[in-house]
Amino acid sequence: MKRIEVGLRRNIDDSYQVYIGEGILERVGMVLGADGSADRHVIITDSNVEELHKKRVQEAFEKTGLRTDCITIAPGENAKEISTVVDLAEKLLSLGADRKTMVIALGGGVVGDLTGFTASIYMRGIPFVIMPTTLLAAVDSSIGGKTGVDAASGKNMLGTFYQPKKVFIDLDFLETLPDAVFRSGLAEAIKYGAIESPEMLDRIKKAAEKGALRKIGFLKRLVAESCMIKKRIVELDEHDYGLRRILNFGHTTGHAIEAASGYLLSHGESIAIGMAIAARLSEKLHGLPATSRKMITETINAVGLSDVIPPTVGAEDIIARLSMDKKKEGGKTNFVMLRRLGEAFVNGGIQEEILRETLEESRT
Ligand code: GLY
Repeated sequence: MKRIEVGLRRNIDDSYQVYIGEGILERVGMVLGADGSADRHVIITDSNVEELHKKRVQEAFEKTGLRTDCITIAPGENAKEISTVVDLAEKLLSLGADRKTMVIALGGGVVGDLTGFTASIYMRGIPFVIMPTTLLAAVDSSIGGKTGVDAASGKNMLGTFYQPKKVFIDLDFLETLPDAVFRSGLAEAIKYGAIESPEMLDRIKKAAEKGALRKIGFLKRLVAESCMIKKRIVELDEHDYGLRRILNFGHTTGHAIEAASGYLLSHGESIAIGMAIAARLSEKLHGLPATSRKMITETINAVGLSDVIPPTVGAEDIIARLSMDKKKEGGKTNFVMLRRLGEAFVNGGIQEEILRETLEESRT
C-alpha cells in the first residue's frame, strides 16, 4: 500500500476590524478603496433598506471612486432560504462578478447571513464586508462569521463559517429603526449582560427607565461593549464547539417559540421569552439567585419586551420543536444556564417534566 500525505497545515489570518461610530459611511469607500483587495463592489440589500439608505450609500461610495452595483432581495426571515442564495449567485454572474469582486451586506441579520453564505460559495469564495443597519446585526450577527439559511427542519441548518473582511457599524442607520425592530436588537444586548456583564445589564435597565435607550452615547457604548464581548468569545471558539455556545442563552427555547408562533414573534421577542425561561430553569436547577432572575426579567420588561409565552403558542409545540433540535445536536438539547449573572455554561439536557412545568409557569 502506498501512502501519500496531502499536507495542509494552515496558518490563516482571518482577523478583521470592526469600525463603530456616527457618520462613518462617508469613510467606508475610502477604507475599502485603500484596502485594494477588490476591483469592484456589489451591495446586497433588501427592499426596505434599499428605500431608506441605498442612494446615500451608493453616493458615498461613488464619491470615493468605488464602482458599485446593487442587488435587492425581499425583506424578512422568509427570504432566508437556499433559493435566495442561488438567485443571488445568478445575479452576481449576470453582473460579471468575479473573484476580485467584493460584496457588501447592507442590512440586518438576514441580509448578512445570506450575503455571507453567498460570498462563501460564489466562485469558491469572494470577499465580503458587513454594514449592519439594525441593532441586532450591529451587536450580534455581524461578528463571528456565521452565515446560513433556514431549512424546513429548522433555522440556520445550511451555512458556513466565513468571516467578513471588515464590519462598518454606522450608528446613524439605527435612527430610522422602528421601535419593535430596535427592541429586537436590545434582546441580544440583554443576553450579553446576562452571560458576561451584569454592569451592562444594569446600564440597559437604567437607560430604559430614563427613556435614554436611543441616545447616541448610550448606544455607542452598548454596541462597542457587545462587540467586545462577542469578539472575545469568537476568538476562543470560532467554530462553536464549546464556549461560543453560551451566546445561545435564551435561544434554545427562543427559537422553538419563534417557530411555534409561525414567526409572528420576532427573533428578539422570542429570545427575550427564552431568556426568562432559561433564568427560571437556572434558578430551579443551578442556584441562580432569585434577585438575578428578577433583574433579567425586569430588564426585559423595562425595554418593552415580554417575558411570558403568549397563549397562542402551545407547550407541546415548543417541546416538539425542541426535540427536533435534539436530533441536530446528537441526541441532546443544549440549554445555556446561569449560575450567577455573568457566569454561563451549557447544560446538556433538562428532564421533560421540569421543562413542561417551567413552560407552564412562564405563561404569567
Ligand atoms: N449568535 C450566536 C453566535 O454567533 O454564535
